[in-house]
Amino acid sequence: MTRYEKVKRELQNNPKTWLITGVAGFIGSNLLETLLKLNQNVVGLDNFETGFQRNIDQAIACATNALRADNRLLDTASFTFIEGDIRKLEDCQKAMIFYPSISEKEGIPVDYVLHEAALGSVPRSVEDPIKTNMANIDGFLNMLVAARDAKVKRFIYAASSSTYGDHPDLPKVEEKIGNPLSPYSVTKLVNELYAQVFARTYGFKTIGLRYFNIFGRRQTPNGAYAAVIPKWIDAILKGKTVYINGDGTTSRDFCYVDNAVQMNLLAATAENEEATNQVYNCAVGDCTSLNELYALLLDGLTDNDRLLTADLIYRDF
Ligand SMILES: NC(=O)c1ccc[n+]([C@@H]2O[C@H](COP(=O)([O-])OP(=O)(O)OC[C@H]3O[C@@H](n4cnc5c(N)ncnc54)[C@H](O)[C@@H]3O)[C@@H](O)[C@H]2O)c1
Repeated sequence: MTRYEKVKRELQNNPKTWLITGVAGFIGSNLLETLLKLNQNVVGLDNFETGFQRNIDQAIACATNALRADNRLLDTASFTFIEGDIRKLEDCQKAMIFYPSISEKEGIPVDYVLHEAALGSVPRSVEDPIKTNMANIDGFLNMLVAARDAKVKRFIYAASSSTYGDHPDLPKVEEKIGNPLSPYSVTKLVNELYAQVFARTYGFKTIGLRYFNIFGRRQTPNGAYAAVIPKWIDAILKGKTVYINGDGTTSRDFCYVDNAVQMNLLAATAENEEATNQVYNCAVGDCTSLNELYALLLDGLTDNDRLLTADLIYRDF
């Protein structure tokens, strides 16, 4: 049995209480789905800035179906949602207690925080650095303070591969980072610095997961800042043009969302205390060029056995 299977079994036998910020987003809703399948208590916090109610609904529906297939029932009281904003300290504080029902006076304190809420996207941060800064740095600090005061066992947060900045080395090794290349990457670097300082100053336990390009179900294809995989899948299925910035030789490490979910659960429950107060790459260790990605998607996608095609246009950055 792998450690992940063991952890899942232990959680199922001895449920914990979790807070997922950004629960209506792509990664947050996948975390929710997995935790509900394991019968955990979950508080979700989101302001729907880039997330959707339908992501939460779908995560609950998927968990319900999976449990039903196993002759088990989802306890609807095991998830409570707070529509709130991490830029407000009081919203973060409120989310640190799980109330199984509205009438319940005594809440259950949160054991683990999985902090996903932030404004993603480098171009968005270039357009509006102040807004990105407020969600990603002010919001992060509020969450750290609220979680520290609530004495949560561990605070796992979404860091980013953008922290490698202009460092040329491949593969990317956690200790070797360069200078940030965008306002977004500044915010993610500052998150890591704050987490280190909270460890040293208050003995608070954190783990940062430097996500590379995470992809998978519930990742939105819409909007100016959509990620490449859902955007291209949508374009191919609708027979629209696929645009590649540059000559397509740029490569990325694409990592499936279930791997990110797994890392979050393992990070929260890691028994070796030396594993805490560190950051870890959340990646596959592979390189796929945009040209290869396009070919893979065209090859893998079918629509009722209809052969799909899409016009491909290379354009300057
Ligand atoms: N998806 C990736 O490839 C990737 C890569 C690196 C880092 N990350 C980081 O992972 C995290 C999750 O990313 P995602 O892809 O799921 O993005 P997402 O946009 O789908 O989810 C983010 C969620 O946070 C919520 N949110 C934003 N600002 C908020 C605020 N002020 N208060 C409360 N909620 C707020 C949004 O409404 C959304 O539901 C982010 O921190 C992102 O920076 C993601």
